[in-house]
Amino acid sequence: MLKGKHILLGVTGSIAAYKAAMLCRLLRVAGAEVKVVMTPTAKEFITPVTMATLSKNPIAVEFYNPENGDWHSHIAMGEWADCYLIAPATANTIAKMAYGIADNLLLTTYLSARCQTVVAPAMDCDMFCHEATQENLAKLRERGCLILESPEGELASGLMGKGRMMEPEQIVEEIGRLFAVQQTLAGKRVMVTAGATIEAIDPVRYISNHSTGKMGYAIAEALAKRGAEVVLVSGKTALATPQGVRRVDVLSAEDMYEAAVAEFEQSDCAVMCAAVADYTPAVVAEQKIKKSDAEFTLTLRKTKDIAFELGKMKGARKLVGFALETNDEQSNAEEKLRKKNLDLIVLNSLRDKGAGFGCDTNKVTFIDASHREELPLLAKSEVAERIADRIEKLLK
Ligand code: C5P
Repeated sequence: MLKGKHILLGVTGSIAAYKAAMLCRLLRVAGAEVKVVMTPTAKEFITPVTMATLSKNPIAVEFYNPENGDWHSHIAMGEWADCYLIAPATANTIAKMAYGIADNLLLTTYLSARCQTVVAPAMDCDMFCHEATQENLAKLRERGCLILESPEGELASGLMGKGRMMEPEQIVEEIGRLFAVQQTLAGKRVMVTAGATIEAIDPVRYISNHSTGKMGYAIAEALAKRGAEVVLVSGKTALATPQGVRRVDVLSAEDMYEAAVAEFEQSDCAVMCAAVADYTPAVVAEQKIKKSDAEFTLTLRKTKDIAFELGKMKGARKLVGFALETNDEQSNAEEKLRKKNLDLIVLNSLRDKGAGFGCDTNKVTFIDASHREELPLLAKSEVAERIADRIEKLLK
């Protein structure tokens, strides 16, 4: 649920600090990496040794290590964190956070962290209900902190009321929800074609192209994360199948055509990202063609344009194509949009630096019947997210 996420756990001096040990363990069980920062008072309630052992990281309390002068950088910790979870958070720490007081490492880290801060208050019911505390919590909420609900129950003081820290299991669930991608494409089935096709000349040689499949695989991954059922009709690539994606491997343009038509029939949308050969050898030699001194001519015949064929059969389905151009980019892409009956075309030009085969970035322009949207140079994973956004709109 929290696989690979960096959670910075801030522990303050509340009796509920003993629950921070369990919280740390559960975060790690959920797959998170955990670093812990404690206030000096928190050390009175739970030892840094316990927290260091459970988090598998050294604990930061002071601004520097008094023994060797090593600086504990609150800025580096803030940058490392995907989420800063302060649990338990005392009335004192909450008040200091609200007023920007920075007299310990936990607080300076709060002021410099750019990630989401989550606060789990823990205090006596009268302190919790006090107007000052409630105003401070409201201030933090307004600033975008997520304040976790404090359940009613028996408090360490023996009193009954609000102010208990939310139970560690529930805190981990809340943190998981924070990172969960909304399942906006649940119930939708999308086919993605990706990679290069291979057109055999003889049992040894073939015609292919430079496509690595990175863009198509990133799109499949982005769609699957949003809950779509994704089938990836894949040509040659060295990439691993993204999680939750069904992959159908093909070699030639003809194989890809057959697989794509079959899958498209049961889909709501197709994204045609593959680099499909436009021509294939008219005859595939059964034996390896022997070299001779004479010139060699290979006769090629046209392959089927898969996107064009799907465009003819699409009905209410949506169809997204790609245009990789080297010149007259805009007009070529518009022509393809029309000719192939696409709902959207993603144009990229080999003239743009950082776009095209093999790179991890791409610079694309979205073109549909009425609009043109030029995106900056982005990671292919980010371009994939933007394409997924457009597919969501198309399927609404
Ligand atoms: O005409 P062009 O090959 O430039 O068009 C590119 C778009 O058409 C891409 O979406 C590509 O995946 C798709 N295409 C296809 N079958 C072909 C050739 C291209 O699906 N034979």
